[in-house]
Amino acid sequence: MNAQEREKKLIQIRNNRDLSCLDIVSIDDLSIEDIHLILEIAEEMKKSGTEKLSLLKGKTIVNAFYENSTRTKMSFEMAGKHLGADTINMSGSSSSVKKGESLIDTTETISAYGAQAIVMRSNYSGIPFQMAKNVSCPVLNAGDGTHEHPSQALLDVKTIIDHHGSIEGKIITIVGDILHSRVFGSLARILKKMGGKIRVACPKTFVPENMEEVFHAQHFTNIEQAVNNADVVYVLRVQEERGSKGFIPSLREYSKTFGITNERLSLADENAILMHPGPVIRDIDMHSALVNLDERSKILEQVENGMAIRAALQWLVVDRKDGKKKEFVEL
Ligand code: NCD
Repeated sequence: MNAQEREKKLIQIRNNRDLSCLDIVSIDDLSIEDIHLILEIAEEMKKSGTEKLSLLKGKTIVNAFYENSTRTKMSFEMAGKHLGADTINMSGSSSSVKKGESLIDTTETISAYGAQAIVMRSNYSGIPFQMAKNVSCPVLNAGDGTHEHPSQALLDVKTIIDHHGSIEGKIITIVGDILHSRVFGSLARILKKMGGKIRVACPKTFVPENMEEVFHAQHFTNIEQAVNNADVVYVLRVQEERGSKGFIPSLREYSKTFGITNERLSLADENAILMHPGPVIRDIDMHSALVNLDERSKILEQVENGMAIRAALQWLVVDRKDGKKKEFVEL
């Protein structure tokens, strides 16, 4: 299939459907229909491989990353370029922010230059939400503080569905620093929406308030019990930069009690998969040999699905068939 045929197919799959939301700040913004639309488009985007498309030709997307990022930033940028968009990168060290301009004023200026979307990462929870209310172009949250990371959850769900066929009824054991993880914030929301059974394995100090009521997640301090018969073992690193060290006696002890080894992984269902959003802290989060040599590991597939999901998201928020515009709300 050449690029033109692929684009025709994508437009056909889309079938004039639009997302029900204008920004994607939280998984709560998305309906089940939205999630299925994103997954369908992403699957077709993935099939296009390295072949460039022109669905976003002439559009400008700004990647405003106010916190360090390697894979998410590259993934959004490559996905935007894959669709022919002009992508512009801004970082926390960009001059206007350094000079003391507020984030909202900086972002408003970007939007006034005519950017068609802003992809935003911040180490403060809630900043993309504030931005979304204050700029006229769509905002995609690429991770805010300890709150949410919706594109990660979407690529994770795609990876699980690619292997298991669905989320409904699957046991997903999430191991690690739940309290400080925005990946958990979005993953738990999407899994709950799609009927997954969530187990959490971590020290009690890493359990967020109301976790069981909000996410219907079951907490375990015994890793063997948590992993037993699981369909997915999803590992998160200890977020030292968010002060996690004070919540555990030491990384060594944490790793001894919760680190994923071959022996522990073997307690999961025989068809189980191992996932991690990266960066992996080898031999702390999981045994090094499991990272990409073990066939149960889907970590590289997560990366590949990441680009497809981010291409789908950028296309869907920028090119709206219903022509809906955001209302500008001055804060
Ligand atoms: C995650 C993040 O930044 O929240 N990583 C990522 O998006 N690739 C997880 C993490 O940093 O641990």
